[in-house]
Parts: sequence; structure tokens; C-alpha cells
Amino acid sequence: MNTKSISRRRFLQGTGAAAIWVPSTMHGYTSAEMQAFYANGVMEQDVAKSELDTPALCVDLDLLESNIGKLQQTVTANGIAARPHGKTHKCPTIAQLQIDAGAVGICTAKIGEADAMFQNGIDDILMTTTNVTPTKINRAMKLREQCPGFIQATDSPQNARLLSEAAQAMGITADVVVDVDPGGHRTGITPGQPALQLAQLIDQLPALRLRGMLCYDGGSQHVKGFEARKLRTLESLVAATNTYELMQRAGLNTEIFSGGGTGTYNIDHGTRGLTDVQVGSYVFMDAQYLDIGGETSSDVYADFQPSLTILTTVLNDQYAGRATTDAGAKACTINQPWPIIKNETGMSYTSGSDEFGTIRYDDEPSRTYKVGDKLDLIVSHCDPVVNLYNQMYAIRNNRVEAVWQISARGMSA
Ligand SMILES: Cc1ncc(COP(=O)(O)O)c(C=O)c1O
Repeated sequence: MNTKSISRRRFLQGTGAAAIWVPSTMHGYTSAEMQAFYANGVMEQDVAKSELDTPALCVDLDLLESNIGKLQQTVTANGIAARPHGKTHKCPTIAQLQIDAGAVGICTAKIGEADAMFQNGIDDILMTTTNVTPTKINRAMKLREQCPGFIQATDSPQNARLLSEAAQAMGITADVVVDVDPGGHRTGITPGQPALQLAQLIDQLPALRLRGMLCYDGGSQHVKGFEARKLRTLESLVAATNTYELMQRAGLNTEIFSGGGTGTYNIDHGTRGLTDVQVGSYVFMDAQYLDIGGETSSDVYADFQPSLTILTTVLNDQYAGRATTDAGAKACTINQPWPIIKNETGMSYTSGSDEFGTIRYDDEPSRTYKVGDKLDLIVSHCDPVVNLYNQMYAIRNNRVEAVWQISARGMSA
């Protein structure tokens, strides 16, 4: 066994209770039963995590709270703010926990997510994707009409003009930020003069209010090794900083310069002018992020703890070297690296089959499973996994403390 797997194993084993053994006769409370127990916002029945019907999406509250606290402490110490991305959790309850911890608002990727957040009490929302069709622009303006804290991104003069016309037709002023391309050409306008000219246009359009800019450097987030990641993101954002300073010198409003993510949250303050980080995955973590290495360990990204797991049940143990579970692609996605079986060693998991997951045992597995046993999976990539579930179970000390609605689940339009 190499040192990488030892240190990764130690980290993963230190992140929660031991594997769950459950007699196959145990009751499995369905999502409808769990919702009924939590109908008044308090759990009216004591339910152990192991009593949940599966597959079930679970969040460990101690780990979640520790992640939110650590992020907030770090960015505050570094003189910037947090504006966490709601695309990760799609859950207004978690957004509220982030705001209560000190976040200046949340981001959303879609207008549907923004609507769901606002309907559930979140009113400082930065939508980081542009709205380009009349339908979406109208929805965005309707939301802005009700929600003074709604800000949307724009990345072209044509789009800015359409937004202004729609806002004017509704008799409102819409808040916007310029989305600046960090070099990946996925979204955003070219930094420098094109971005400056767009900002100046917004400033002059009758029904828009310029609030600043955003530049999300997605290409740097999963770069392996802290120093390599730091070098790359600070370099990628030089053009954005120059743009920000051009906007400042032109006397434009630059109150927002948003960017950054989970991989660079403790680097982003090195980008001159950046006001807040749009961190998403840090609340839950996942196998993709655990792999990138951090400032203190090059083997595992241990800054945040994996709080999100899928509880799954073993369906078949009859064949040597393997077992089959009820969590396949429809419960875990087919993103890779594959889910990690929490607190176990000497076995691996794949979720390529629609309805079934496969456990494969190596030479010295830490245990073998029997039919009816339940086990916890650290998710491969948190955002798409969350989008597969209507609710998540908030767990403390292996008891269900709350049932949280994933209100923006499926809101991809
Ligand atoms: C625009 C934008 N901001 C922030 C994030 C958050 O990234 P992470 O989950 O890496 O923190 C994403 C993720 O894809 C994003 O697309």
C-alpha cells in the first residue's frame, strides 16, 4: 500500500462514525414517512440514520457546520467575503445557515434556482449565468421586481440592451454585474477594453444599475497541488484585476468583484480587488475535490470534511469478491472518481449500472457485507448528486435531526 492511500484512508476514517451494520429486518422509513415526521419543523419521531429507506441522501450536521465555519473564518481573516454558490446544495435551509454564518448572499446558476431560493426566504441572490431568451429575461425581471437583492450577470452589449428594455417595460431598474472571461471562453466577455465598454454601456442604459463584475476561474479549481493551483489562478485572474482597475479609474461602480471556488478559497484574496468567493462544493466535499491536495497535505484536500453521503443497502452477497447495492447511477451519477465507501479500506465501489452499485473486495477488505447491511458513500461529485434527490436527511450522532427540502432540485431552466 502506498503512502498516498494510507494518508487518504486516515483522513476518511477520521470523518465520522464507523460503518453501519443493520439487521435486514430493520424498518426502512420512506421519504413520505420522514416528511410527515418533520411536518412541523421538528422531528416528531426518533429515527436512527440506519432506519432510513435507501438510497438516502444524508448530510452530517457536525461536518457541515464545521465546513461553513471554517470557510467563513478563513475568508474573513483574509479580508474578503463569502457568497456561496447555491447550485451545489439547492437547499434554502443550507443557504440560510451560510448567511447566518456571515455570507453576504448566495449565488445561483439558474433563474429557477433563484426563484426557489427567493420563495423560501433567501433575498440576496447573484445569478452567475446570463439570461438570453425573452422567457428567461422576463422571469429575471419579475424576480427583480419582488426581490431588490437580485443581481444578474451579463456578458455582451446586445444582452445588456435586452435586459434594460425588459426592465424599462416593467418599470424597474435591474442590477447587473459584468461577467468577465478568465480565459476558458465558456462564458463572459473578454477582459480589458471590451469588458470596460460593456460596463460603461450598462452605466448609461436607462433601466440597469451596474454593481461590478464577476470572473469565475473554473479551470483552476481542481488543479492538483496547492502551489500549482495558486500559481495558475493568480495568473489567470491578472486580466480580470486589470479590468476591475480600468472600471475603477473610469469612475464606475465596482462594489462587487466576485470569483473563486472551493479549490482556491484561501488563495483568492491574492487577486487584487476581489471582494468575495463563490464557493460551492466546500459545504459537502466529494471524491473529486478530496483528490486535489491542499496546503498542508499534497495527498488529500483536507481543508473541508466530506459531510454528504448516500446511504445504500446491500441486495446481494452471494458471489465471491463482490456485493451488490441499491445505489447505482440513478442514486450516485456516473461521475468519476467513483464514490468512496466511508470508513472502509480494501474495497472499491462503482455506480455505472442504472439501479445497482457494485462493491469489489481486494485482498484484505476491512469487512465484507451481508444482505440488508447499510453503508455510507462519499459522493463522487456533489452538485449532480444533490439534483437527484427531493430531500436530504440532516444527521447528528447517527439520529435524523431534520428533513431538508432540496427546493431547487431539477430547476435547471
Ligand atoms: C460560476 C460558478 N461559481 C462558483 C462555482 C463553485 O465552484 P466550487 O464548487 O468549485 O466551489 C461554480 C461551480 O461550477 C460556478 O460555475
